[in-house]
Amino acid sequence: MNAQDVVVLKEQGLAEARQAATLAEVEAVRIKYLGRKGVLQEVMDNLKAVPAEGRRDFGRCANELKQELTVLLDERKTALAAAEKAAGQKQFDVTMPGAWRSLGTRHPVTQVIEESIRIFSMLGFTVADGPDIETEYHNFDALNTPADHPSRDTQDTFWLDNKTLLRTQTSPVQIRVMESRKPPIRIIAPGRCYRRDTTDATHSANFHQVEGLYVDRKVSMADLKGDITFFAHQMMGPNVKVRFRPHFFPFTEPSVEYDFSCHVCGGSGCRVCKNSGWIEISGAGMVNPKVFNIVGYDPEAVTGYAFGMGLERIAMIKFGIEDIRLLYDNDVRFLSQFS
Ligand code: DAH
Repeated sequence: MNAQDVVVLKEQGLAEARQAATLAEVEAVRIKYLGRKGVLQEVMDNLKAVPAEGRRDFGRCANELKQELTVLLDERKTALAAAEKAAGQKQFDVTMPGAWRSLGTRHPVTQVIEESIRIFSMLGFTVADGPDIETEYHNFDALNTPADHPSRDTQDTFWLDNKTLLRTQTSPVQIRVMESRKPPIRIIAPGRCYRRDTTDATHSANFHQVEGLYVDRKVSMADLKGDITFFAHQMMGPNVKVRFRPHFFPFTEPSVEYDFSCHVCGGSGCRVCKNSGWIEISGAGMVNPKVFNIVGYDPEAVTGYAFGMGLERIAMIKFGIEDIRLLYDNDVRFLSQFS
């Protein structure tokens, strides 16, 4: 065996390595040429028999066989491993349309809450919060509600024990805010309220209100009317009319109830407005000085207005919903109409 034979063996090995089509075949070539009893070992065993003057050349060729074959086998191994991995993965068609996920919609009452926050924030109001489980003090006493007022009756209020109840209105948030902050105050408080009402097309035992409270020097009834009218136009559009009627609430003096012209029929009369052309939204008024005294404000120094709003009412006239119960059925066919 001479150096030329070794070159031939090398070329053979390289050719076989190039032809190996699987990882197993690559390994077989490696064992055949570079293994313990392989071709290379045989070549080395021959080294001693080579005449001294040819030994250098022979050794160099043996070395080249080892190195070139090792490099090529490694390359083949890497390439085949990558190809086998890719073949094992699921192929997908990038031109197929993606899986469609339908977006949910916001509940109409949530939409009205968010819109109310947006509108009143333009007037400088921030959002305040209070608990659904209230004390009798915050829900009634501090709001100057007489001990014998019919709304305290178990007919109207869900009592939890002697002193605690589910709030019947968002007005107790007024008290909590004034107890904890100094004037000026400008807050709205959206939230859930509870009353022992029998459910029908316009009543629900739990419903939502937004409370508003503005206390500062020289706040007047004109501010109240202007701000409520601004709200109505923003919420319902520029054609809605607002009217205020004298009323009584223990925590405001003077007090009003206010109505929006019916958005569904434009004021001409329909089922939603019970043919009156108007929808009662809720009550409002100038904060009663007795309430200021209770929370420790000086009624000589500040005045304020307060209002409540029935959010289901607003949602019903805004979206033309004829029955309040639809808002609580959780029927997706109904809810998805208000996207
Ligand atoms: N809390 C009253 C209700 O639920 C509504 C109300 C009336 C709120 C007058 C007010 C107000 O803030 O000033 O019927």
